[in-house]
Amino acid sequence: MVEFASVIRGVGGYLPERILTNEDLSKMVDTTDDWITARTGIRKRHIAADGQTTSDLGAEAARRAMKAAGVGPDDIDLIVVATATPDYTFPATATVVQNKLGITRGAAFDLQAVCSGFVYAIATADNFLARGQFERALVIGAETFSRILDWSDRSTCVLFGDGAGAVVLERQTKAEAGERGVKGIHLRSDGRYRDLLYVDGGPSTTQTVGHLRMVGNQVFKHAVGKISDSVRAATADAGLQISDIDWFVPHQANQRILSAVAERLGLEEHKVVSTVAEHGNTSAASVPLALAAAIEDGRVKQGDLVLIEAIGGGLTWGSALIRM
Ligand code: ACO
Repeated sequence: MVEFASVIRGVGGYLPERILTNEDLSKMVDTTDDWITARTGIRKRHIAADGQTTSDLGAEAARRAMKAAGVGPDDIDLIVVATATPDYTFPATATVVQNKLGITRGAAFDLQAVCSGFVYAIATADNFLARGQFERALVIGAETFSRILDWSDRSTCVLFGDGAGAVVLERQTKAEAGERGVKGIHLRSDGRYRDLLYVDGGPSTTQTVGHLRMVGNQVFKHAVGKISDSVRAATADAGLQISDIDWFVPHQANQRILSAVAERLGLEEHKVVSTVAEHGNTSAASVPLALAAAIEDGRVKQGDLVLIEAIGGGLTWGSALIRM
């Protein structure tokens, strides 16, 4: 039997034009630039324009990833969109993106694991490709969290922003891929922690969209421990050591979480890719956005070992090791 590897061919990110600074927020709720910067590291976030939807952001990020990969619509046969802020209850945002990109073959579906969505989506696509079922996947994280925030709640509205990131993941034989590809994966969830981070609405409960609610300090504590354990498990799954990791590309929720996890794992600070100051927490979009930024500025190169990780509502969490 031929053994396959899932190789990242191209990465792209897209942030909407409109910027909301900490200063802007201080005029909307009782907060300050100093408080937000000190507690989170966030300086600004991008907000989707009126009428600009999650699929618009996702499609633009996908176009950029496809351009970087040098592939066209006919080359893609799987689309997985990780999002907690879909355009509609149905159809899946992935099918809307598929149509916007002019892709008429293969399959497209959404995946819901909130901020962990991109890690879950990489794991899902990797399994499809490894089985030989599809050839080339668009894995997209796209969110418009501005639409589910309670803009009068200072404890949550300062943390999040809108954006999208995407990768083209390609099936290659192990001989073609060499050392490249998805190496190790670890996924977890525990529904007992639902009340720590959730949206208080939905089609089957309130018939409304609802607003994000969070017990921030509790999420913080779970984040550091659970992510560190997950990274160790993914590294062991890959038969690698933490010291083998070239770049740590974490979910961009809060600079303090990023630094605490890096410290706990013994990862040097200069290996941590942090973009949280520029766009806040963009949920499922944050990992591919950070990866796109680190490729664009020349830090992450082909052959580098990249660790991605995230934790989000559910709770869900996970990590993956990818040789670029
Ligand atoms: N401006 C000023 N003061 C504020 C603000 C604000 N924006 N928000 C809260 N406060 C106040 C609180 O009211 C509280 O005041 P009190 O002491 O008078 O009651 C005080 O600040 C401290 O509140 P805490 O919640 O204990 O503050 P903490 O140091 O924990 O920081 C924060 C809050 C930044 C939310 C932190 O807990 C955090 O980052 N948690 C992780 C959240 C997160 O990253 N979630 C996303 C991960 S999962 C996902 O991505 C969906």
